[in-house]
Amino acid sequence: MVENNLLPASVADNLESHFIGQRVIYYPRLTSTMDVARREAQRGAAEGTVVITDEQTMGKGRLKRAWLSPRGSIALSIILHPSVFYLPSLIMLASLAVVHSIETITGLESQIKWPNDILINDKKVCGILIESDVRGNKVVYAIIGIGINVNFRLSAFPEILSTATSLADELGRDVSRVDVIRCLLVEIEKLYLALPDGESVYEEWRDRLVTLGRKVQIKSGKAILEGIAESVARDGSLLLRHSNGSSTKIVAGDVSLHHNK
Ligand code: BTN
Repeated sequence: MVENNLLPASVADNLESHFIGQRVIYYPRLTSTMDVARREAQRGAAEGTVVITDEQTMGKGRLKRAWLSPRGSIALSIILHPSVFYLPSLIMLASLAVVHSIETITGLESQIKWPNDILINDKKVCGILIESDVRGNKVVYAIIGIGINVNFRLSAFPEILSTATSLADELGRDVSRVDVIRCLLVEIEKLYLALPDGESVYEEWRDRLVTLGRKVQIKSGKAILEGIAESVARDGSLLLRHSNGSSTKIVAGDVSLHHNK
């Protein structure tokens, strides 16, 4: 039994970071870590403050969907104060940090589906949600919310069984959530601090996307668009090339990958 508690001391003691995870707020059960992180950010919480819970009762997904996070999940939100210029990079660095951490702790290889779903063997193992409060060109706060399916079996959740997986399902054993979280926090800080150095986060994110070059269907608002996912821009948007040669820039949407390229 590797399952461990997520109390602040377990997560933060001797953590090799400078600010991300140096303050951890833990609740056994919450509606959503995003709600608490937003409240903390509005009260002026320090950059790098992390809100963690063992169980969310109203987890939030992208595009106003619900996010299931039963006991055994990782559900956390990180408060940051980036410059507005780096806001689009948060999606990229969070996705990369999750992929790196899963690989370091479990040896499992994962992929990124645009914009920020993390997949193992074509099934979703992690979702990422970014919220920000921007006034003029000043970011008052940004919050990265990360949900990872770790120590629960999808067979208990038939409603998502065909599209989701967990680390425990993939490995056939439980994984230390504390190890994954500690690795993730250090990795996010490393990538965040490297943003001013240049293009590496964008380039690695782009190169790891399973979406590019594939025939896709994208639900964006009420529209359903089809084409080849041709490229991604530095602002995170996806360029979709239609069969008639025209193209559409997609800022947010839900991608289904066709299996034939
Ligand atoms: C998605 O893929 O739709 C994004 C899911 C994001 C889930 C995480 S879990 C921690 C944080 N709290 C939430 O309510 N949502 C994010």
